[in-house]
Amino acid sequence: MQQTSSSPGLEQLSEPDLTAKLEPELLPKHVAVIMDGNGRWAELQGLPRIAGHREGINSVREMITLCLELGIQYLTIYAFSQENWNRPMQEISALMGLLEHYLSTERASLIEQRIRFRAIGRLDALPESARHWVRTTEQETAHLDKMHLTVALSYGGRAEIVDAVRGIISDAQSGKIRPDHLNESLVQRYLYTHPLPDPDLLIRTSGETRISNFLLWQLAYTELYFTATPWPDFRRREFLLALIEYQRRERRFGRVLSTVSS
Ligand code: IPE
Ligand code: IPE
Ligand code: MG
Repeated sequence: MQQTSSSPGLEQLSEPDLTAKLEPELLPKHVAVIMDGNGRWAELQGLPRIAGHREGINSVREMITLCLELGIQYLTIYAFSQENWNRPMQEISALMGLLEHYLSTERASLIEQRIRFRAIGRLDALPESARHWVRTTEQETAHLDKMHLTVALSYGGRAEIVDAVRGIISDAQSGKIRPDHLNESLVQRYLYTHPLPDPDLLIRTSGETRISNFLLWQLAYTELYFTATPWPDFRRREFLLALIEYQRRERRFGRVLSTVSS
């Protein structure tokens, strides 16, 4: 598969040596992750798919810890897509159970680490007990801002845009906004992710090189990083490699930055 991860020499470096390669002023402010490959990771070991989802939670913990250590303020993770509702009932129930377990047990640690938790997506579709923990965790962490952890649940990028358009139409009809004031920053205010900044770096694990309906609007100028490593194996070293690769990119946003002769 196409792999956009770092050059071969880096693979041999120790974690402290990799960390030393990071330049604090070039770190992304917002990292988004499509956490893919849990099922295949488990199946390769003869385990049920849910074992992969469970192990994936340890990768989430490690990533949060490293973001805190490095001062990366925004982490947005894709945990369950709208399309994932088409999976077998048994897997959906197991995933919802894991979500509830994660939120109910991890709340205290999020608060202690001063992390604000948000969920984005069509949350009404979640079972009531999962919704309860999502709401509770959002409320209990609403005042925190050391880091922002956003979890996409029952999330679809197209649905998000449709919901934004619905909100805009409704506010235009009630006179709250004027149609001739419509511009990109107004649309942005109606997205689920408001007021988060757009991601600087998107990581997708497990070999797939697609977006799968994630943050369609917000990824307009995000750097994309694909790795064959399945999510349960994506730990600190892997994240450091992704960050080093990110730092090597030249973000042009359509402009001409380097002096290339034409
Ligand atoms: C990602 O892992 C987690 C979710 C989509 C919930 P997958 O469950 O998609 O694992 P693979 O891609 O089938 O291996
Ligand atoms: C994307 O993974 C969604 C999440 C990681 C939650 P999928 O495994 O559902 O994506 P596809 O089906 O391979 O595109
Ligand atoms: Mg998958």
